[in-house]
Amino acid sequence: MEELQLVKNQIKTFVEECKDEKSLVLLDKLATGKMLRSKLIMKIAGINEESIKLCAIVEMIHAASLLHDDVIDEADTRRGQASVNALYDNKTSIMFGDVLYSKAFTELSQMNRDVAYTVSNAVTLLSIGEMLDVDLTETFNTSYDKYFDMIYKKTASLIEASAASAAILAGRDKEKYALYGKNLGLAFQMIDDILDITQDSQTLGKPAMLDFVEGKVTIPYLLLHERVEDKVKLESLYKKPLTDTESSWIKEQMLSTKALEDSVNQAKSLGLEAIEAVKDEDNESLVQIMSAMIHRDF
Ligand code: FPP
Ligand code: MG
Repeated sequence: MEELQLVKNQIKTFVEECKDEKSLVLLDKLATGKMLRSKLIMKIAGINEESIKLCAIVEMIHAASLLHDDVIDEADTRRGQASVNALYDNKTSIMFGDVLYSKAFTELSQMNRDVAYTVSNAVTLLSIGEMLDVDLTETFNTSYDKYFDMIYKKTASLIEASAASAAILAGRDKEKYALYGKNLGLAFQMIDDILDITQDSQTLGKPAMLDFVEGKVTIPYLLLHERVEDKVKLESLYKKPLTDTESSWIKEQMLSTKALEDSVNQAKSLGLEAIEAVKDEDNESLVQIMSAMIHRDF
């Protein structure tokens, strides 16, 4: 996709402006992701100088948050490649995250006030979301409200802000696009949580069924806990490395209780709500972005 290359070039230019050789070397070590936020911004605001800058800013903030998250999660892979904390060390990952994050904010301060406010406010939510996520892995969480509040802040807030800011640049209805982005983000995180259970480690680029081992009670586990007969057994497997028999038992229970199926349905219905929010905007690609995201392989 040619447009995404424009964003990558803009990120490189921003990092070059920092005049630091090591930062450029480190930038090269980052594996590129799907760039969902950039795709979204460009579909709403088109491809122009301001929209490309906004994409680069948002991608740099996202990359910075992942550089910090990999330290917090002690992850040694990111997108199927060695993470910066694994290649170098935790200090490097945090410090390079800080470079990307602060340069992004320098550039954000030069943009439209409302865009700057919307994006910077989302980064506060993102940071709070990460704290909530860490707190929720302490003990077995059974609250849907806490789960939704956490995924809204950790994942959906920046997607919401991307869509809203793109709408501001395009002179369109900010609220409609914010709602679209929020629901897209919530559905995106829920599908990620579902894929952790349904996909193998090769496809995921990280060990499969890791969330529960790491203490994350995601939507399929919340539904499962509510429905499973042997709750004590499920609780006893929480935060433990799983044997093949144990992970097969969880998967079977996920199927027989329809916990997995209903999680997919909840994600899909959020997807439909997102599309509903922008139905009068005459932008077919917003429907495409949503359905491409929902129809990732379950
Ligand atoms: C990945 O979650 C983490 C995030 C989406 C947000 C992380 C946010 C911060 C560390 C705070 C903000 C910091 C800065 C510098 C802006 P995950 O661990 O559930 O997903 P994963 O499997 O991709 O790691
Ligand atoms: Mg992580």
